[in-house]
Amino acid sequence: MLVAPTTSGLDKPGTFAELQQQLAGVLEGERDGLANCANTAALIYHALPELNWAGFYFLRDGELVLGAFQGKVACVRIPLGSGVCGTAAARRETLVVPDVHAFPGHIACDADSRSEIVVPLIRGGTLLGVLDVDSPRPDRFDQDDARGLEAMVAQLLEASDLERLATSRS
Ligand code: SME
Repeated sequence: MLVAPTTSGLDKPGTFAELQQQLAGVLEGERDGLANCANTAALIYHALPELNWAGFYFLRDGELVLGAFQGKVACVRIPLGSGVCGTAAARRETLVVPDVHAFPGHIACDADSRSEIVVPLIRGGTLLGVLDVDSPRPDRFDQDDARGLEAMVAQLLEASDLERLATSRS
């Protein structure tokens, strides 16, 4: 079932096409939300270059609460509308931040982070949380990353029961 990440040598769309195949294999036959988020974070973190953090926050009682991730210890609670994660969640849209130091209200969990991308998890119009990916390189993420990570989030949402992790509505 598990496939070792082998994405070196591919361009970005090719890398994401391969990652989506690997994710399909990882998610096959399993609907547990925590397990699937943990494996999705691990797949992203270890397969994509130049990352220092990849993981999930879930909407619980009106704020984002840390979920499964790879990387250094992170801040646990983020109010909706705060930082990159809270802003993407409030706007319900993917946010690409080329320079986190220039983003008003950026929350510095890992001082190494220089750029960031956040993709909201939305099912049936309900906000469940966000996928957050950080890089130590400025301007690391572009629209190919946005489309690729959005496709992976769509796969995760389709394959997993996440409602128990996200206990409240925005
Ligand atoms: N930088 C994020 C906080 C989460 S950590 O990067 C893991 C933000 O500004 O929302």
